[in-house]
Amino acid sequence: MGKRWQVEKKKEHYYKSAKKENYRSRASYKLQQLNKKFRIIKKGDVVVDLGAAPGGWSQVALERVEEEGVVLGVDLQRIKPFAEDNFHFIQGDFTRDEIQKSITEKIGGKADVVISDASPSLSGIKDIDQLRIMDLGESVLKISVNILKDQGNLLMKSFQGPGYEELIKKLKTEFKVVKTTKPASSRKKSAEMYLIGMGFKGY
Ligand SMILES: C[S@@+](CC[C@H](N)C(=O)[O-])C[C@H]1O[C@@H](n2cnc3c(N)ncnc32)[C@H](O)[C@@H]1O
Repeated sequence: MGKRWQVEKKKEHYYKSAKKENYRSRASYKLQQLNKKFRIIKKGDVVVDLGAAPGGWSQVALERVEEEGVVLGVDLQRIKPFAEDNFHFIQGDFTRDEIQKSITEKIGGKADVVISDASPSLSGIKDIDQLRIMDLGESVLKISVNILKDQGNLLMKSFQGPGYEELIKKLKTEFKVVKTTKPASSRKKSAEMYLIGMGFKGY
């Protein structure tokens, strides 16, 4: 069985399951798998999803927090509204100060969890793209430090390459436990990784 064929099969499997279970994206399975293993989100949590469109992660987060919690999605793109009234959405660029201010206002305090599957628009030029990815990752970490409660958790996407190890070091200064992982539904060959910070040290 060819490698390419296997990859296509796996993609098709998650796509079909997502359709059947009414998930908005295949990415939903990544969060499901990561949350099962690391227990990042729990019932009643306030979760901020940075780069939420089309809403697959927010959907899984809503299932986990149940009616007691709140999910706030932020994205440059609009997303189709959810029926749940404990879901909120801000359209805008989360690297901008005014959007960060709106996030704090919307959740009325601090968050238990920040999740971010955000990726920037890519130019196709490897070095430039890696810089963009790392810049966005730095922004996600900076926002998390500003909005997380003590002991809060962070899950963010990153890519192996220049700047990746430095980002992990920074996470280690802010969180008690830091893990790097790749969910089963992520392609093995891609440089995509997920970073998890558990137990924000706060101040
Ligand atoms: C891979 S998609 C997220 C998929 C989502 N986790 C899901 O399960 O449906 C990445 C998203 O990040 C968003 N994004 C990237 N940079 C952003 C920024 N600076 N501010 C807001 N959203 C951003 C993009 O618009 C895109 O919708």
